[in-house]
Amino acid sequence: MSMIETIKNKARANVKRIVLPEGDEPRTVKAAAIIRDDKIAVPVLLGDPDKIGQVAKEQGADIEGIEIIDPVTSPKFGHYVTELYELRKAKGVSEEDAKKLVSDPMYYGIMMVKLGDADGLVSGAVHTTGDMLRPALQIIKTKPGMKVVSSSFLMDCPNKTIGENGLLVYADCVVIPCPTAEELANIAVAAADTARVLCGVEEPRVAMLSFSTKGSANHELVDKVREATRLAHELAPDLLLDGEMQFDAALVPEIGASKAKGSPVAGRANVLIFPDLQAGNIGYKITERLGGADCFAVLQGLAKPCNDLSRGCSVEDIVNTVAMTSVQAE
Ligand code: ACO
Repeated sequence: MSMIETIKNKARANVKRIVLPEGDEPRTVKAAAIIRDDKIAVPVLLGDPDKIGQVAKEQGADIEGIEIIDPVTSPKFGHYVTELYELRKAKGVSEEDAKKLVSDPMYYGIMMVKLGDADGLVSGAVHTTGDMLRPALQIIKTKPGMKVVSSSFLMDCPNKTIGENGLLVYADCVVIPCPTAEELANIAVAAADTARVLCGVEEPRVAMLSFSTKGSANHELVDKVREATRLAHELAPDLLLDGEMQFDAALVPEIGASKAKGSPVAGRANVLIFPDLQAGNIGYKITERLGGADCFAVLQGLAKPCNDLSRGCSVEDIVNTVAMTSVQAE
């Protein structure tokens, strides 16, 4: 069974309520019907019910029984405005601003998750990553013990001899352009957690990637990865984590054995931490396009799960991301 099918089964075993703020977006409407039919989650669409009904008709999607909430006319509107104002007034948000923000389905959806009226949120078929991330960062915030929100890409590779039966977790490929050593350490611990919770990896083995393996090169960029490795050990002393190491030393047993002798991770890593967003983003796209991997993105480190879609996403991508969000919500 593929990794994503396993995740869908996990989601079905503990059904969660997932809000879709882009409720009148055609792919989202179609995905909501599939999510309901496949019992992956209870989807909630945000937007004007008439418009959503019209889109459903045009798409041939049966949305009978799916809950639709129009933020502005919803009975919870006033409550969410008050709560948002309280949360953000110290940041200069007035009551008038809060009203405007809660009228926006993205903020309304984030408030639903914040206040426990939904277990998670999936958006981004229309909005940019930044537009989706900002309200989540401002309102949901990080989970206890986590300093930053970042992302992991689950790479399901055709070569089943690498990683965890072909699965590699890459981080961070979406959020933090230029992480500090401390942020990199947080990303590593969060990615190990994602491997465990979402992919059922019993023993995450985390490689802190660089262009140097164990002192083979010296540069301030390498120093940062070394420092991040030290800090990650402090944060999670029991985690199998090692660095700095090159990509091949992390994955190929013979190279790992020769370049990083005695490392508990080299040659058998299943979680790869990239030193910055350029490396991570380029790395996952190379693995996808040249390596033929299927890839699935999730945010990590948020107190409650919210996930971003690519604007080029398919209906299936939305269904998959809702399944992953549901499992993260458990
Ligand atoms: N973790 C936790 N909190 C954060 C983080 C983070 N990584 N980044 C920002 N915040 C918080 C800030 O502390 C601030 O909180 P506050 O308002 O309560 O003080 C709030 O979020 C907003 O912070 P800003 O610095 O104003 O946010 P900014 O406008 O810089 O946006 C963002 C943050 C959207 C994450 C930005 O870093 C970004 O654009 N990252 C890259 C996203 C991207 O384009 N990725 C690549 C494409 S995606 C792909 O290829 C799949």
